[in-house]
Amino acid sequence: MNSLVSDTLPAITADRITIRGGKPLTGRVDVRGAKNLATKAMVAALLGDTPSLLQDVPTISDVDIVTRMLEAYGVAVSKPASGELLLDPANVERAHFEQIDVLAGSSRIPILFCGPLLHRLGEALIPDLGGCRIGDRPIDFHMDALRAFGAIVDKSYEGIRITAPNGLKGANIELPYPSVGATEQVLLTAVRAEGVTELKNAAIEPEIMDLIAVLQKMGAIISIEPNRVIFIEGVDRLEGYTHRAIFDRNEAASWASAALATKGDIFVAGAKQQELMTFLNVFRKVGGRFDIHEDGIRFYHPGGALKPVQVETDVHPGFMTDWQQPLIVALTQAEGVSTVHETVYENRFGFTDALVEMGADIVVHKEGLESITRRVPRRKLEQAAVITGPTPLHGADVRVPDLRGGFSYLIAALTAEGTSTITNLGIINRGYEHFTDKLAGLGADFSIEA
Ligand code: EPU
Repeated sequence: MNSLVSDTLPAITADRITIRGGKPLTGRVDVRGAKNLATKAMVAALLGDTPSLLQDVPTISDVDIVTRMLEAYGVAVSKPASGELLLDPANVERAHFEQIDVLAGSSRIPILFCGPLLHRLGEALIPDLGGCRIGDRPIDFHMDALRAFGAIVDKSYEGIRITAPNGLKGANIELPYPSVGATEQVLLTAVRAEGVTELKNAAIEPEIMDLIAVLQKMGAIISIEPNRVIFIEGVDRLEGYTHRAIFDRNEAASWASAALATKGDIFVAGAKQQELMTFLNVFRKVGGRFDIHEDGIRFYHPGGALKPVQVETDVHPGFMTDWQQPLIVALTQAEGVSTVHETVYENRFGFTDALVEMGADIVVHKEGLESITRRVPRRKLEQAAVITGPTPLHGADVRVPDLRGGFSYLIAALTAEGTSTITNLGIINRGYEHFTDKLAGLGADFSIEA
């Protein structure tokens, strides 16, 4: 298959990086559009009758995968300028299952094709889903929501086949948990369903709000009510959009943690205060400093000791699960005992084993910990990591387990005295654009090998 974007994806063909750490990271990095919005906005383009233009698209492999999936369905994808994708759905058709299967193996985005494909083609076929191995990551909320719209879900030898012989009708849906993906599933399906959909217990992450902005530009009627309720009035037709993706909060928070852990000073161009408020509070409590500017945020270590914190991951506006891995590296350098409770995924502390190998004192409690300071003592799947610091880190040979865990290994290796080798680098390229160039710009001492 000839994919324009994959042809221009910059070379992180290297699978191994050797880092000589112990040097503060200083300088500027530019953060572009969020992976977790751009990929969804690309899927939304399938719903339009006319082409869509998405701006500030990061050059990451998740975008590449979605590009190739859209192309498999007949969407013409071109790149009119740097960071732009023009998506023309004029000739959408059924894709060959083999193409989709090969592509889907490394991403969870295919599940979000269901609604748009049902509207356009009357059926959707979803193969086994990929994405980071951070827990079970079931799709029951997605399938229940699609059934509520009138879809029929059948398991076939190829995967899950979803059809809608009588069309899709607006529905009353209450999610058991404010899942980001399931909320997107409902939005992408309800906008063209017949009648009104009421979604209760919806996710309200800034990337969801940005997807709603995209859909509104396309002609959708969506109102956000108090208490996580969203109403969607189905319309007959949607047009293409022109939209600049919201900045990547996860990448911004990752570089901020890198500045703190390495005693550095990083200006994250493109980062905005509003969407990072909860992160900024924790960053300040740990002892990091930040200056908010019009065009970005400067994150720095002011000298002296860092302080321990108690953090619990949560849905927005809580502390994002994607922020905890980079932060934990910085917490290994704080004076005292920090606790991080993970309440979103059931298995997102696996990466800490490698940090322990590098000298960190981290104990993971699989059943969580009782403590009166906890804010969200409600999910069975929680785990707690207790980090005692400060501990000097030393170099080690480690393998990237997942996207955010992988980035935290980069930070740990940059913080550590001595040399570290990190393999399986390709996973980091799923969500961090040009990260080796950015590291070089921040003065990191490293070499990469294929
Ligand atoms: N869940 C179910 N059933 C479902 C769907 C979700 O039980 O049908 C559970 C999950 O197993 C998990 C929890 O609900 O325990 C939260 O999952 P959610 O659906 O909110 O997450 P997601 O849509 O799969 C997105 C991001 C993640 C990010 C989470 C939380 C994308 C592509 N992924 O995942 O990002 O951590 O929301 O904000 O948008 C990453 O970027 O590295 C990443 C993993």
